[in-house]
Amino acid sequence: MRILLGITGGIAAYKAANLIRAFSEAGHEVTVLPTENALRFIGQPTLEALSGHNIDIDMYSDVEKVRHVSLGQDADAIVVAPATAAFLGRLAAGIADDLLMNAILASEAPIFLAPAMHTEMWQNPATRANIQTLEERGIRIMEPASGRLTGEDSGPGRMPEVEEIFDFVLSLGALRGKKVIVTAGGTREPIDAVRYIGNSSSGRMGIEIAKAARDQGADVTLIAANIEAVLPAGIKIEHVSTVDDLEIAMDHPSDILVMAAAVSDFKVEKPYPGKLKRSGSMELTLTATKDLIAAYSANHQNAYCVGFALADNDADLEQVARQKLWDKGLKLVVGNRVSALGTKDTSVLLVENDKASELTGTKQEVAKALVAFISQSVSV
Ligand SMILES: Cc1cc2nc3c(=O)[nH]c(=O)nc-3n(C[C@H](O)[C@H](O)[C@H](O)COP(=O)(O)O)c2cc1C
Repeated sequence: MRILLGITGGIAAYKAANLIRAFSEAGHEVTVLPTENALRFIGQPTLEALSGHNIDIDMYSDVEKVRHVSLGQDADAIVVAPATAAFLGRLAAGIADDLLMNAILASEAPIFLAPAMHTEMWQNPATRANIQTLEERGIRIMEPASGRLTGEDSGPGRMPEVEEIFDFVLSLGALRGKKVIVTAGGTREPIDAVRYIGNSSSGRMGIEIAKAARDQGADVTLIAANIEAVLPAGIKIEHVSTVDDLEIAMDHPSDILVMAAAVSDFKVEKPYPGKLKRSGSMELTLTATKDLIAAYSANHQNAYCVGFALADNDADLEQVARQKLWDKGLKLVVGNRVSALGTKDTSVLLVENDKASELTGTKQEVAKALVAFISQSVSV
């Protein structure tokens, strides 16, 4: 793979030397492109010797080679480590004022960033907003590590270790060429023209799973049932409302289906076409909806189907999840408890035919670990 390695002007720039070596030793062709400020932290001769090529960061030299475009277009992946707060801001705003920024904007290659800065800079609202913008554009951003920073301080902001950056860049792509369908949110079954039977699912978990699958190189379709959150870039989105809509949207073959949407078990037999008026009392007749995931797994035997099971707090979670696995012919069931709903951190039990393992963390962390687990199982 041809890797364009950008280095920006942070204290961790010296660590990029080992990153050049790690990528080169693994057989990748590394083109190093430091910013002017990066060269205050690490010497050009070091970078030239390790990468085996001359480094010229002047945008206006060798103009006949149109390097400000070709450097980006020739890359299969762009990695920027360390990425300064200033760089994140310039990239979020699209300010192409040096060779590295021009190359990045001229490229369609996947971009991986390893930000490193003081904790306050990392947590500053401006940096948070830039990170959100970049993630929404599909740029893959590593969470900085916690530990000793420049001077006496310590906290989140350290550049992750070289091995971790290496793994982050190269483990991605495990789902390249795979078609993944993720359902998220909650269905709504109309009672009348304005009221419905719904649920409180925010869709956050499904969105994070879709992002993690996208970041592994998959071709992802996110079927969003009544989600209000901002939906990620780099993913095909289909909006649905009812169980019937969802069934139609799901009617496509896939390599992996993750059914994270909360699907209504009932629908109103005859929704009222207008708005029902208040009256003393009324009765609604509910009928059971179709079991979409069971039908999907029966019709798409080669798909790796993942379901979710929500169990009462006093239930045997593993037992509930495994029963669902067998009943619906699934490969994996992600079990969680009612008490975990609405909490910031989440804890789930991954239940397979013969084993179970627990994942704990934020929804984003759990989603990434779940997708890593699925991609391993699919590649076996
Ligand atoms: C000693 C020192 C260490 C620095 N370390 C960092 C850092 O780790 N992260 C960061 O975002 N900025 C850091 N800065 C500030 C950047 O060097 C500054 O924002 C610069 O404009 C970044 O330029 P560049 O993004 O074009 O490479 C540091 C500055 C100094 C003087």
